[in-house]
Amino acid sequence: MKPGILGIGDALPPRVVTNADLVGELDTSDEWIVRRTGIRERHWLQGDETLADLATSACAAALRDAGKEPGDVDHVIIATITPDQLTPGLAPAVAAKLGAEHAGVVDLNAACAGFLYGLDHAAALVESGRARHVLVVGAEALSRITDHEDRSTAVLFGDGAGAALVGPISEGVGIAGFEFGYDAELAPLLYAERERPLLRMAGQEVYRHAVARMTEASERLLERLGLDATSIDYFVPHQANARIVIAVADALDVPHERVSFNVELTANTSAASIPLGLAAAQRDGRLPAGALVAMVAFGAGFVWGAGVSSWKDGAAIDKRGKAQKVKTRST
Ligand code: UT7
Repeated sequence: MKPGILGIGDALPPRVVTNADLVGELDTSDEWIVRRTGIRERHWLQGDETLADLATSACAAALRDAGKEPGDVDHVIIATITPDQLTPGLAPAVAAKLGAEHAGVVDLNAACAGFLYGLDHAAALVESGRARHVLVVGAEALSRITDHEDRSTAVLFGDGAGAALVGPISEGVGIAGFEFGYDAELAPLLYAERERPLLRMAGQEVYRHAVARMTEASERLLERLGLDATSIDYFVPHQANARIVIAVADALDVPHERVSFNVELTANTSAASIPLGLAAAQRDGRLPAGALVAMVAFGAGFVWGAGVSSWKDGAAIDKRGKAQKVKTRST
């Protein structure tokens, strides 16, 4: 079966932390944070709130959006680097809370690129017939591994969860393909140690690599699929910094009105960033059924990935004459 995205959902913790809230705690300013990153606020879990509950809300919303039930779910794949416990992972708790009683459950760690890896795995499961409906979740509580006393990173990260339901589609493009890469030698530029699990980042160098790798991966994938930037209706780059998003969009020649910019309200949520961007865009009417969507992410590892998919309605993309142009291949 041809795999496609059938539904999307998201969830953010109720607590909003504005730049002004951080200025009282750190030697920083709203002006610096907005100018250098585009971030104005982020959401953080508090008290006994769990990431599993947040991820479950996102999954429930994705199922509602797709008109499916928890019992329809064959697998729950959760991309996260910040599960509630070292072990077990998030997926068993989320599937149980959701009522997905017969699902396979697994967490994966590919840092900010995790959601795209999950999407690729889900597409392969559906395409091969080994599963019919797979929930792919990006869920992070980065506030738990942020050094709240280090101004160079404390302002950058947020918590959130986004989920997509992947299932069979009969017409159109569906999940068209991916491009993945890694560079383990550069891992010391962005990491968190087990002993003192706090994110450490050489910001400027990561910035440089992020722009270069996300641009290259997107170009390579578009070329392989027989597409160029003009074919892309909506572009969702990982939201780490608005300047990075702009640099990648400009390098690819994607007009800004077709680009996701939700870092302003979420900050960097690692694996949750892309599904949060997709859900926000659908809510705001910027992602109509049948749109061709490009996604790209870069993060710790370094690990990066790019993906292209049609948005939900295969028939709509067929009518726009785009389906014929895409040389689909799931990896
Ligand atoms: O999700 C994984 C991928 N992550 C990324 O892609 C993030 C990539 N990196 C970045 O987004 C940017 O490098 C940062 C936002 C982290 C930093 O922005 P920058 O423009 O590269 O700033 P910088 O690190 O070069 O620092 C410039 C100045 C320094 O002061 P001096 O040495 O020029 O006096 C910093 O100490 O800004 C200072 N600074 C701050 N000032 C006020 C650093 N953080 C802050 C702060 N408030 N929060």
